[in-house]
Amino acid sequence: MKAYLTTDVTGDLKQDITELLVAYQYSNVASHSIQVAEEAERLCIRYGLPKEWGYTAGLLHDISVIIPNEERVALCQSYQMVVCEAEKKIPMILHQRLSKLMAVECFQIENKEITGAIECHTTLRANPTTLDLILFIADKIQWDQADSPPYLAGLLLALETSLESAALYFINWMFAQGVLVKHTWAVEAQLWLEHKFV
Ligand SMILES: [Fe+2]
Ligand SMILES: [Fe+2]
Repeated sequence: MKAYLTTDVTGDLKQDITELLVAYQYSNVASHSIQVAEEAERLCIRYGLPKEWGYTAGLLHDISVIIPNEERVALCQSYQMVVCEAEKKIPMILHQRLSKLMAVECFQIENKEITGAIECHTTLRANPTTLDLILFIADKIQWDQADSPPYLAGLLLALETSLESAALYFINWMFAQGVLVKHTWAVEAQLWLEHKFV
């Protein structure tokens, strides 16, 4: 993983991730990551978690965008990770798991709350932690497209009820769009969240 770094890591995480992403021509992802970090920080304060957890997870959640799509499956397999059919079909989904690896190996993040939330920020997972939910939702509120997300009003309304309610709102919206493949973790997260509200 360290082979992907362009300069030494200084320990100033915001500066380090910005320099790295800009070096790979991903300044848009750098801006998005800072916005997600600030959103996740706000949600951590609202839900009683250390704000640094949300901020760190937000800065690093998309860091593996610098790894080319065609390298992702083989790279994961070199770490003995089992790659599912959905991930083989759409290697972009693997960026959540590769960002976790980069957080650990390149940025020495050992806090498992943080690395766990990075690992499932695209799909969520069953029985999510509060930080899993916060990063998942912060990423959707601060999405990386130019326009305002079509689901935003509904998501924010659901967030008035709970993090779980907002997460379920988004997963239902995503599946209703007719996604190419349904990742197992997202299906399991949806089931888990639905049962929570029965
Ligand atoms: Fe992402
Ligand atoms: Fe993101």
